[in-house]
Amino acid sequence: MHIEKIKKGLKGEIGKNLIYYDIVDSTNNIALKLSETYPDGTVVLADCQTKGKGRLGRSWFSPPGSNIYLSIIIKTSIEHRKLNLLTFMASIASALALRNCTNLDVSIKWPNDLLVSKKKIGGILTELKFNKNVLVAILGIGVNVNIDVEQFPEEFRSLSTSIKNETKNIYSREELIIGILNELDKWYKAYTQNNIEAIFEEWKNLNATFGKEVLVFSEGKTFKGIAEAIDRDGFLLLRLPAGNIKKIISGDVRILED
Ligand code: BTN
Repeated sequence: MHIEKIKKGLKGEIGKNLIYYDIVDSTNNIALKLSETYPDGTVVLADCQTKGKGRLGRSWFSPPGSNIYLSIIIKTSIEHRKLNLLTFMASIASALALRNCTNLDVSIKWPNDLLVSKKKIGGILTELKFNKNVLVAILGIGVNVNIDVEQFPEEFRSLSTSIKNETKNIYSREELIIGILNELDKWYKAYTQNNIEAIFEEWKNLNATFGKEVLVFSEGKTFKGIAEAIDRDGFLLLRLPAGNIKKIISGDVRILED
């Protein structure tokens, strides 16, 4: 990875401190530790993770030399009701940067899966921590770039894709990282200036979930319904067959065939 190239391409505050490792357990774990001393906007980047973490306790396949694994330390004063927006911001920035760099039709599946051709090309894992009573958020972003889908472990293979798999081309991870972090810088400004509406609107524009029949796995149960909208906290509003709305706080969504 050419770190100097990335540093040269970064325009804003996000990534001014960029810490690179060849190998880590998880960039989120390192960022959680470093958040005690490093400032807002610090980025931890790695070529490889030995214990990459996905949402809902799952693992994130993180071999060397091919993909993006990075975590951003956010130390702004975070209001409880705006927490989900931070994750939305990371998925918006990643989706827009990938669209710009690759021309792929990247969309977002609630809450923050990055999809191309209905398969997962990336994801976001946000973790929170209190440092001396101040809430710190770690935004972890993973993108499958130059990996062949055949390399994925069996259980992920049918649901995953990569930029290489979709375009048949090799992409510069450095350029993609620059794109993601510069885009994130813009959305982070919207967040700190309380321009919540802009974040909601862009997330809705990019989302691939609304109006579709979905299965939702949440609270150890499966619900079938129409994904109708998100509320002001970013929770999913699911219209159940009986006509009532169920609010989904956390879970996994599978879009049924349209
Ligand atoms: C998901 O399950 O969709 C979230 C995946 C998040 C993966 C990224 S890779 C960089 C950061 N470090 C981790 O251990 N996980 C996140």
